[in-house]
Amino acid sequence: MDVIVINGGKALSGSVTTSGSKNAALPLLFAALLAKGEHSFENVPQLKDIDSTELLLNHLNCETYRTGNQLKVTVNEPGELVAPYDIVRKMRASILCLGPLLARHGRVKVSLPGGCAIGSRPINLHIEPLQQLGAHIEIENGYVFATAKKLVGDRIVFDFATVGGTENIMMAATLCRGTTVLENVAREPEVVDLARCLRSMGAKIEGEGTSTITIEGVDELEPAAYSVIPDRIEAGTLLLAGAITGGDVKVVKCVPGDLYALINKLADCGFEIETGEDWVRVKPCKQWRAVDLDTAPHPGFPTDLQAQFMALMTQANGTSVITERIFENRFMHVQELARMGANITPETQVAVVHGNKGGLSGAPVMATDLRASACLILAGLATEGETVVSRIYHLDRGYENLEAKLAGLGARIERRSL
Ligand code: EPU
Repeated sequence: MDVIVINGGKALSGSVTTSGSKNAALPLLFAALLAKGEHSFENVPQLKDIDSTELLLNHLNCETYRTGNQLKVTVNEPGELVAPYDIVRKMRASILCLGPLLARHGRVKVSLPGGCAIGSRPINLHIEPLQQLGAHIEIENGYVFATAKKLVGDRIVFDFATVGGTENIMMAATLCRGTTVLENVAREPEVVDLARCLRSMGAKIEGEGTSTITIEGVDELEPAAYSVIPDRIEAGTLLLAGAITGGDVKVVKCVPGDLYALINKLADCGFEIETGEDWVRVKPCKQWRAVDLDTAPHPGFPTDLQAQFMALMTQANGTSVITERIFENRFMHVQELARMGANITPETQVAVVHGNKGGLSGAPVMATDLRASACLILAGLATEGETVVSRIYHLDRGYENLEAKLAGLGARIERRSL
């Protein structure tokens, strides 16, 4: 079992490069299923979730070859069109094969992903719109069985601006007969990236980045040659690592516009932030103010940075009320932060953080999900003494070499195998 050991209390400084986005890369790799032939993706991070995606693509008779951060995917005629439980249970995003396979082959069987640590995460907003496009769907024995002679475009209004639901239906609609209008869709940069990639494959899509996306179906798509956008959540985590240590950190090769909500919050706390075309710098700050935070769909504050921001608030001057509005159980880091001495009153989806600079102390803690792992590492960086974070397989799902990147900024951090 690997753990991350941190001896914190040191201000970070220097420049660090952002990797490709996990949550943009995953749908792009599933979009490959829409077109036969060789696809080439650049800037694909090396992560466990990408490995799981490759495993599923291999199972669907696709070949995958990685050279550094380039991933080539050759899509052949599939054998059985099944996404099995053993792969889907490791990664919920596997559900994103549903739309592409159904649209291209007219049938698919995908395991239900089930709940996960951060919430129940149903897939009704993937299933119902596909039914509206003409799919016949049955759920039996833990599997979704979907068939359709030909999907036909329609007007779909999402109850909630779901990221995965928007992506799945957008992919399916590229091969529908006629026009599909998707309303109340997610506006996340990862959705925009997927739309751009699909367009480069020959899809007719308009409106990405707004709440209405219009897709005119085409008969077939070309293989993709596409580069993944930088990971805004990783970039935000690195900025927060600089902030919580009172350091001076420049995060390069990122998209500052995608980090607007975080940059605004940091400025409200009293941090001085500089931005350039593709970089953001947080400057040293000795004492910052507590601010309240509500997570929200993009362009609101991302739920994927809530845990890391909470770590920052444990060191703030004053009390911060943090409300998680996307997932119903995304406060599992609270009890681990409390083990380090944080004073946080958690309620169902609200946590009241009583900031106390220097009030944390190193402790053995356990990561419960991907972003909670990052939160605990940030808390460890802020405190003197040794923090040992276990269950870091969660971290490896979504951060490429985080400990090496932090060490490059001067952090005393290492991975140990026990
Ligand atoms: N929801 C439903 N029904 C559905 C789909 C979603 O009720 O059919 C609910 C969910 O239960 C949740 C809310 O809608 O309460 C938002 O879910 P959404 O579908 O937007 O999330 P997702 O597509 O499952 C992606 C990211 C998550 C990120 C969320 C929100 C990927 C692979 N995952 O998940 O990333 O938190 O959007 O921005 O893109 C992470 O990287 O740590 C992570 C969890």
